[in-house]
Amino acid sequence: MADLTWINEQARRTLYRLIPQLNEQFSGLCSQADWKTFIRRLERHFPDLFGLLYQLYGHQYDFFFHVENILATAARMWVARPQGLKELDASREALPDWFHSEKMIGGVCYVDLFAGNLEGVKAKIPYFKELGLTYLHLMPLFKCPEGKNDGGYAVSSYRQVNPAIGTIEQLADLTTELRQNGISLVLDFIFNHTSNEHEWAVKAFSGYPEYQAFYRIYPDRIIPDQYEQTLREIFPDEHPGAFTYFPELNRWVWTTFHSFQWDLNYENPLVFSAMGEELLSIANVGVEVIRLDAVAFVWKKLGTTSENLPEAHLIIQAFNALARIAAPALLFKSEAIVHPDYVAQYIRPDECQLSYNPLLMALLWNSLATREVRLLRYSMQHRFAIDPSCAWVNYVRVHDDIGWTFSDEDAIQLSINGYDHRKFLNAFYTGRFPGTFAVGLPFQENPKTGDCRISGTCASLAGLEKALKEETGSEVDLALQRIMLIHSIITSIGGIPLIYLGDEIATLNDYSFLEDPAKAGDSRWVHRPKADAKKYDRRKDKNTPEGKIFQGLNKLIEVRKSHAVFASGANHETEILDVGNDHVFGYVRSFFNEKVVVLANFSEREQIISIDRIPSIIWPGQDLISGEEYHPGEEIKLGPYCFIWLQI
Ligand code: GLC
Ligand code: GLC
Repeated sequence: MADLTWINEQARRTLYRLIPQLNEQFSGLCSQADWKTFIRRLERHFPDLFGLLYQLYGHQYDFFFHVENILATAARMWVARPQGLKELDASREALPDWFHSEKMIGGVCYVDLFAGNLEGVKAKIPYFKELGLTYLHLMPLFKCPEGKNDGGYAVSSYRQVNPAIGTIEQLADLTTELRQNGISLVLDFIFNHTSNEHEWAVKAFSGYPEYQAFYRIYPDRIIPDQYEQTLREIFPDEHPGAFTYFPELNRWVWTTFHSFQWDLNYENPLVFSAMGEELLSIANVGVEVIRLDAVAFVWKKLGTTSENLPEAHLIIQAFNALARIAAPALLFKSEAIVHPDYVAQYIRPDECQLSYNPLLMALLWNSLATREVRLLRYSMQHRFAIDPSCAWVNYVRVHDDIGWTFSDEDAIQLSINGYDHRKFLNAFYTGRFPGTFAVGLPFQENPKTGDCRISGTCASLAGLEKALKEETGSEVDLALQRIMLIHSIITSIGGIPLIYLGDEIATLNDYSFLEDPAKAGDSRWVHRPKADAKKYDRRKDKNTPEGKIFQGLNKLIEVRKSHAVFASGANHETEILDVGNDHVFGYVRSFFNEKVVVLANFSEREQIISIDRIPSIIWPGQDLISGEEYHPGEEIKLGPYCFIWLQI
């Protein structure tokens, strides 16, 4: 990169040249105060944005034109930003660590499957509040092809809601209503690809070279073959490799995921500015957190895996700088389901302030299968700590498959062979391993590499489906306890817990997707059932699995929300413990003098923990969940899959 002083000098000069034009074009379109705010933010963040764009596109002869274009977009979108959101911007800037609060609880659902449509989601606000949610991720809801659309992850327009579920006005209205109820809306920014029905793709398809340059389109196999030597196959069930041949076009199009999802070409600065505008338009609907979908894939380079490349980070940082200028309330969450070394690279205050924690997720399931916590403990000791201005989003299930993305280098430290161990986990969670409690399906099993991922709901993977079928009461209890156990970790370890709605009432796998040709080939639909109202009603009955999980989870949420020690961020710590028992995962949460020790037994046998293994214990300690007190000299006994949150 060019020298920083030089870059800053060029940034200053560029801005000095561009501000008069921006003033002329846009200052009259909003209040003087709003325009001043915009210019103040621009002056503050433009050097960063400029430096990033310069690294990405500075070598192009028309670089200045693109910078001008991008700033005009920022100004236009700021002018269009609703007043309520401008106020939100100011309040978030004044309180930038709001999302670290112990009050934060996330939920995620599909609009159609959970509530029918956007109006239905609005009607569910009382339910979201009953559960305690403050963060609601609605799965992709923009216009997409009918039939196969990867659950909405193939976007045909970022400005139009899928007509089957509502309109953009209803969406804006919903975000306002949610915010008034203390809930921040989270939506995806699916920016690695568009659907083949997006107008850019349609124009590319009809032969316009400007739009073909939005994608990566090749006349023959020469370049695709070269790339494929080093690429991973993501959806091998759908098409081998990363490219799809379109006979009408007589060309090969880069399609990392499905053939109807065309990868955008970020080497073209017009793609960056066009997508920047789409990003800001989503922000202007009132979205507060953007889930950056498939971040790992946005930049490609011959001879590499084309995943997690340095330029992918520059693109995200540039989007982030753009948001700081024109929609500063917006937070970014990365969806990097990759090796933990790479996951960590997206987590920076100037890149993604939030990140899924796929490692914790995968290792919770690993510990349930093996009944031991060594890899979980080791990995969290080395990898849980992140920049205190950023936070994890901790989850046990989402709409996607479970990939075993732990680090083989970590595993080998514990004499675990990653390849063999993944084979075991896949056998365990697809029900092929003798004695397993889990019922799940393989996803994208690749005979060439032996790779496989897992589909299934939390409850079915945790043993409830099998236990209910085989009618053994004690097995049912164990399954329910497993569900509670892993949720007790995500609600207490530090970060935003994210509940995949349906899991809070122990929803089982739904095999009806096999009858729908648009879904049958994608086993992830087994854990994407339609919400069942009757099942939801049973949450009030403590004698049902639904009631046990819902009320149990509600208790965890209530306790979390009433103790500041469960927040994250500055002055909050998570110390992962070795409690001298490989079946028990333990950590201390602390916030100044407040301390809570969490102990979680991952086996179906009682475990006894010696108190000497717990640092600076002050007696008596009290389990915040059961209220039970622990006195000096006593042992801590943990029943099958039991956990305590011991306040000391
Ligand atoms: C993300 C989504 C997944 C989708 C893929 C392609 O990984 O979570 O559901 O298939 O991106 O958009
Ligand atoms: C791959 C991608 C991940 C995506 C998943 C969808 O694992 O790395 O981003 O969520 O596919 O199944």
